[in-house]
Amino acid sequence: MTQTAPRKPFLDVLAGRRQAVPPLWMMRQAGRYLPEYRALREKAGSFLDLCFTPDYAAEVTLQPIRRFNFDAAIIFSDILVVPHALGRAVRFEAGEGPRLDPLDTPETIATLPAIGDDSKLTPVYEALRRVRGELDPAIALIGFCGAPWTVATYMVAGRGTPDQAPARLLAYRHPDAFQRIIDAVVDSSIVYLTGQLKAGADVLQIFDTWAGVLPPREFERWSIEPTRRIVEGVRRNVPDARIIGFPRGAAGLLPRYVERTGVDAVSIDWTAEPSMIRAQVQSRVAVQGNLDPLALIAGGTALDRAVDDVLESYGEGRLIFNLGHGIQPQTPIAHVERMIARVRNAR
Ligand code: CP3
Repeated sequence: MTQTAPRKPFLDVLAGRRQAVPPLWMMRQAGRYLPEYRALREKAGSFLDLCFTPDYAAEVTLQPIRRFNFDAAIIFSDILVVPHALGRAVRFEAGEGPRLDPLDTPETIATLPAIGDDSKLTPVYEALRRVRGELDPAIALIGFCGAPWTVATYMVAGRGTPDQAPARLLAYRHPDAFQRIIDAVVDSSIVYLTGQLKAGADVLQIFDTWAGVLPPREFERWSIEPTRRIVEGVRRNVPDARIIGFPRGAAGLLPRYVERTGVDAVSIDWTAEPSMIRAQVQSRVAVQGNLDPLALIAGGTALDRAVDDVLESYGEGRLIFNLGHGIQPQTPIAHVERMIARVRNAR
């Protein structure tokens, strides 16, 4: 057979080919701003049941695609499934976010296995296979994990905190113990991301939501270096693996992150300075971002201006249009539609 697979504009950008109309998706595009998500979420019971029931996870993944025809679907799961595979108790309390048993002393950290039980993540692989089977071949499927630093911040504190101080303190006081957590997450994530590619993901994203709280030396050790090891480890298994990094808040450290980790693209938040990004980041890799999610809540001319700013700042180079962080639950669906129309009709 000489049939060629349909082009995926999203993958074209990652492979070095700018698209006149940038491919578009949204971080957290499956979620509470969609009534169909809220309905299924209620039916599923707990949040982890939703993630680990392949029919439900596949359905929730496809909901935003049906509504908005995005250029990429992201598999519905959470970054905290890796601590779950590492044997940590993970639960999500309604309206309060994640809760884990804290891992905050060298003695408790010594009990952590060196690698997670990958069989606990089988339902995610099954959900990926189902989505791949139903998804339009022109739409890319994204697998993901959390970066070790961000995952470790939740494992240490047992919850989200305003500045992730518990993990920062532990890393200063007990760097060897903290390194053990990072190493376990690195090795588990290599297996997990490789499994996602084998199950049908076209591209991977590594979410380092809390990268921006680290000083440069710690950023190098706890964000860049573990991410570099994951990229290297995944490519040892799948040499042409395409990987997007999201070191949120990395600001002036972004060029260093790109150079050292080997990612194919970086997701940037809305505080990025365009001329620096163009010269030192977009010159090397594709850029994904970076609309302020609050402009999407506001809508109207403020939203139009924010969309135009992203296109004007980055549209001449390789761009994947996205938000600078996840869409928030109170966002009106009509504003999402307005944003998409403006991006797709701009040129
Ligand atoms: O993007 C998508 O549509 C795919 C699904 C996805 C979720 N979480 C589903 C989710 C992805 C990619 C994530 C990543 C994630 N999870 C990150 C990194 C990206 C980011 O947004 O910063 C982090 C830090 C987490 C950990 C986490 N999960 C937190 C802090 C929370 C609570 C905050 C919140 O939004 O409620 C979650 C829960 C969560 N993960 C929800 C969803 C849809 C909401 C839970 C619900 O529906 O009850």
